[in-house]
Amino acid sequence: MNVRDSDAVAAMLIAAGHQQAVNENDADLIIVNSCSVRGKAEDKAIGKLGILCSAKHKRPGRKVGLMGCMAQRLGTDIFQKIPLLDFSVGTRRCGAITNLVKRVETGETNIFEISSPEATPDVPDSHNETGHSAFVTILLGCNRRCAYCIVPDVRGPEFNRPASEIIAEIKTLTRHGIREVTLLGQSVFRYGDMDKVWNENDPVSPGGFTEPFSRLLEAVAAIPGIKRIRFTSGHPTGCTDELVRAMSSLPQVCHHLHLPVQSGSDRILKAMRRGYTRAGYLDAIQRLRIAMPDFAITSDVIVGFPGESVDDFEETRSLMEIAGFDNTFIFKYSPRPGTPAAEMNDDVCDDEKRRRNQVLLADQDKLGQLNNEALIGSIQEVLVDGPSLRNAERWAGRTPGNKIAVFTPTDSLKPGTLAKVRIIKAAPQTLYGELI
Ligand code: 5AD
Ligand code: SF4
Repeated sequence: MNVRDSDAVAAMLIAAGHQQAVNENDADLIIVNSCSVRGKAEDKAIGKLGILCSAKHKRPGRKVGLMGCMAQRLGTDIFQKIPLLDFSVGTRRCGAITNLVKRVETGETNIFEISSPEATPDVPDSHNETGHSAFVTILLGCNRRCAYCIVPDVRGPEFNRPASEIIAEIKTLTRHGIREVTLLGQSVFRYGDMDKVWNENDPVSPGGFTEPFSRLLEAVAAIPGIKRIRFTSGHPTGCTDELVRAMSSLPQVCHHLHLPVQSGSDRILKAMRRGYTRAGYLDAIQRLRIAMPDFAITSDVIVGFPGESVDDFEETRSLMEIAGFDNTFIFKYSPRPGTPAAEMNDDVCDDEKRRRNQVLLADQDKLGQLNNEALIGSIQEVLVDGPSLRNAERWAGRTPGNKIAVFTPTDSLKPGTLAKVRIIKAAPQTLYGELI
């Protein structure tokens, strides 16, 4: 979500006459986009802002701004913490940035645009991505209120973009060479639950889909030039039969889902107010796997939530194994001000959180290795990105399951091509293969 917002802001500033600097040292304007999900993310943003602002004299005239969740959460208090900060913009006011930048250029400082999180949000549709893949926001905010989570406070309640707007944006992207879109929302299956997203004038669904999100997938799949559709994040309660049918029957939809589980213990899931049980989660992924045998699943897990015993933790380990995750992002629980969980006793000490984190990382490595080894000998369709990060003579791309595949390119191969790669070697997070 933040990557998408940063990209939209860059595009707006470029449209207003700015140029993108090659690196941070050469920039006359730096905007830090911040995350509030964990305390550590906020500490990093504050540290970065402190360094940038105290080095302002090295490049006279340089302006520094803040955007994103921490800007929203701290409001004007940020200017007490970072007095040399020029401006701060809340989560729903991205569109105000060009104007704020103009004002700081004329010498104003410590200025801000922070609306209430309930305000109708700005949804910039400008893009600055180069290449063949783009993020498209469909749903902002979240109405769920999981006990640990600050997102509903900083990103506000759900706001659905009308389907026609999303489709128009994707059509424009295809004219600029985009072939893959990732639809974004905190909980994408809730798309259209709160607001009307389809108009009376919109054609009815040819596939007979009635749920707004499945209907959106179908409409995006019908856009010429769109080869791949992804979305993130899903919530287990939204894995309806219709969603499974949409995912398995629309060829452009990748057989991959990021489906955060957070814990494998029913007791902890309840305390987290996640709204599903361990069995419910496993049932959802079983239905997805039955419909799509090549299905890939990635997840998020929190370790050390208040009251998490060693037994609860072991339940998470066993769930990860049964679910057979392809990758898991593991987070140490961090109390967030104002959330229900912040009132609970943060009783798992930091050393124990670290230990549980390490155990799950090692478990996931083994799982990833096993899953990837099972793909040796298979032929994967890869959307080619270009030279790999580690070795520019090798190229990398993504499989439908969102795994990185590394291979030796031919002279004529271009980024954005859908290529076939035979997998010959596997590591926990990477596949190695040869172009066919
Ligand atoms: N502490 C630790 N991890 C958290 N996440 C959200 N809130 C917290 C918190 N307070 C994690 C969840 C979520 C991911 C984006 O961040 O796993 O899925
Ligand atoms: Fe936070 Fe839960 Fe909403 Fe995800 S679904 S953003 S974890 S409140």
